[in-house]
Formats: sequence, C-alpha cells, structure tokens
Amino acid sequence: MYNFIFQNTTRIYFGENQLGHLGEELKQYGTRVLLTYGGGSIKRISLYDKVMEELKKAGLSVFELSGIEPNPRHTTVNKGAELCKKENIDVLLAVGGGSTIDCTKVIAAATFYEGDSWDLMTHKAPVTKALPVLTVLTLSATGSEMDSGGVISNLDTNEKYGLLHPLLQPKVSFLDPASTYSVSAFQTACGSADILSHVFDVFYFTFAEKMDMIDRVMEEVIKTVVKYAPIAVKGPENYEARANLMWASSWALNGFLQTGVIQAASCHAMEHELSAFYDITHGLGLAILTPRWMEYILDESTAPQFKKFGVHVFGVDAALSDMEGAKRTIACLSDFLFKELGLQSTLTEINIDDTNFKVMAKKACGGDVLQGFKPLTPEDVENIFRMCL
Ligand code: NZQ
Ligand code: ZN
Repeated sequence: MYNFIFQNTTRIYFGENQLGHLGEELKQYGTRVLLTYGGGSIKRISLYDKVMEELKKAGLSVFELSGIEPNPRHTTVNKGAELCKKENIDVLLAVGGGSTIDCTKVIAAATFYEGDSWDLMTHKAPVTKALPVLTVLTLSATGSEMDSGGVISNLDTNEKYGLLHPLLQPKVSFLDPASTYSVSAFQTACGSADILSHVFDVFYFTFAEKMDMIDRVMEEVIKTVVKYAPIAVKGPENYEARANLMWASSWALNGFLQTGVIQAASCHAMEHELSAFYDITHGLGLAILTPRWMEYILDESTAPQFKKFGVHVFGVDAALSDMEGAKRTIACLSDFLFKELGLQSTLTEINIDDTNFKVMAKKACGGDVLQGFKPLTPEDVENIFRMCL
C-alpha cells in the first residue's frame, strides 16, 4: 500500500431545487460569467431557463459558448479561451455532461496560454493558471464534476488526451438527479459502463496491495451501478436510481478510491483510441472492450481477482475454481452490458473495422507497453481490438 495525500475541494450541492445557491457561489469569483453547454439538451429540459433566471437574479453579466461536442474538440477549447480573454471573464459555468465540463476546464486553463490549447494537452506547455469553474451536471458518467481531469480530442491528428491538474478541479458542482431524467437509455447505459470501468479498470483490478476498506467500497459502488443502471434505463424518471448513479459517478473517480493504489487504466487507454479515430461514445467503447480485455489477460494470476469480482457483484458460485469462476464472471459482465443494458456488443455493429487497429494499438501503448492489470504490448492491444469485431 502506497502513502497518499487525499484532498477533494469541490463543494457539492446534491438534490432538487439547489440552484438557488448558484448566484451566491458564482459571485464569490466575480461578475462576468461564461455559461458553456452542448448541443441543446439543457434547453429541451428547461434547465437553461432555470440557470439563466438564477444568473439574472444575482445580477451577473452572462456570456455564452454553446455547441460543445461530445468528445470535445481542441478547436472549441480555443474558441472558448478567446472568448474569455476578449470578454474578461471571471468565472466559467459548465452545464452539461462530461464533455461540456471537460471542455470548460481546459478553456479555463487555456485562457492563460497564448497559443493552441492542444499544447496543454500534449504537455508542450504547462498549466500555470486557470479561471474558476463551477458545474451543473446533467449526465452521470465521467466524474468530471468532482475531479481534476479534462479529456479533449484533436480531429486533425486523431488524438484524444486527458489533462490532469489541480487547477482544473471544479470549485462547486450542482448534482440534481432529476436533471438526468431526460438522458436517453443509450447514454444512461454508456454512462453506467463508464462508471463501472472507472472502478475496475482504474483501481479494482490490480496486483498492488490495497486497503480492504477501499476494496469493499469499490465493490459497493460497482453493485450500486449494477442494481440501478437497468432501473434507470427502464424507468428514466426514477429518482432513486438516478441519484444513486449520480453519486456513484462522482465517487468512482474523485480520488477516494484511488487512495493507496497506483494503477494505469488499460481499457481507458484503448478506448480513447477508438473515440479518437471514430468519435464513438466513450462508455460504449469501454463496454465493448472490457469483457474482451478480461478474456485476453485471463490466466492463473488474474483469475482469482476476476472470480472475486463475480462472486461479490454477480453472485457467481464461490465454490467454482478460480478459472471457472473468472469465466463465469466475464459471461455475467457481458450479459449485464449487452443484454440488460442493451449496448451493442461488437465494433462491427458500430461500423468499425480493422483498418486502423495497428496504428491505434501503437498509440495506445505510447511507444512502449500499456500498463495496467497486465502490461500489454501493441500486438496484445491489436489482438484485443480484433476480439471486439
Ligand atoms: O450536447 P448535449 O445537447 O448536452 O447532449 C449530450 C450529448 O449528446 C447528451 N446529454 C447530456 N445530458 C443530457 C443529455 N441528453 C439529454 N438529457 C440530458 N440531461 O448526452 C450526450 C453525451 O454527452 P457527453 O457529455 O459527451 O457524455 P459524458 O458525460 O459521458 O462525457 C463523455 C466525455 O468525457 C470524457 C470522455 O472521454 C468523453 O470525451 N471523460 C472524462 C473524464 C474526466 N473528466 O475525468 C474521465 C472519463 O474516463 C472520460 O474519458
Ligand atoms: Zn471513463
């Protein structure tokens, strides 16, 4: 178990009718606000009007950046940073899912950089300063509402990178489960697959020694998603289901489950290549990859942990051998993702063929091997992509 420092500074307002606090929170950082959002879902659910009403009540000057794409582009970050400089913005308010929040975080940092924001993503230039960011979350998935990361895509180079910096941590996030009632069954399923992956891809499956307490909390977060995701898919306006998914999203990646473990997330690295090349939904890519990755790395060393996961989460028979239990677990996870949540199960179904697998595999490994539960060579990654066809 490694030493660790834990700090999460995001203030959370959770539940219905909390937006009344938005004005007072924003005013702590200034009066000129850039409101950022995506393709219009916040207007369809009248959240835009509610937010605007609060901003008006607080007497704030509001500027807008709309049209932030799913898998947000660095060009949109550049546009936002220009706007912040031109209008002397004091504080950013992101209203949306992970894409809107991520883009806004990187805009916050790019405002203090004279150049292409992509330089920050590639670490050609360091993050030195950032405007404060507040968020109103509308989709449970990424954990961006309570973490210090932002993921941006460059369509010119087919690259998608994450930037982690304490200055990107949101100051305040508003989490109203009712704001996610309108999330489609597909996006609900994808978001749930993402939450699951944050727990087991990033922290749960590891040979590193970890605290039993953290292990147990991880299993409970996974069980929460397994219980409530199908309920939300079938009954989108189920408050209890939406609330559980929302809080699970935040806690899967807010640093708490990471305490004492150092781990690299192989499925995330492979998925970022899929969405960089084919602009697919992040959670869908993870869902297709994860059971194949488990199958590929299944051996005497990994089987006990896969089985343990199955026993605790899916009720797999503890009396089975490690190998049989692990195989049963992979089957249960596949059934959950593809049958219960209804996600597509192959890359072929989403029109992806093997054209770019070699180059994607090489990129995922960053010129070396891809670290994770088992280190993967570019050849391994290519094999896993092929298993997904
Ligand atoms: O653009 P709008 O109109 O808002 O529509 C969005 C979008 O089409 C829609 N949506 C969001 N809230 C809705 C809604 N539709 C109806 N009702 C609502 N309440 O859903 C679609 C997807 O939204 P998006 O923000 O792209 O989804 P998500 O939250 O899954 O974010 C995905 C992005 O986050 C990155 C992913 O790689 C991807 O780029 N990630 C960010 C992480 C982080 N910051 O820590 C970690 C993750 O592993 C992940 O990589
Ligand atoms: Zn993710």
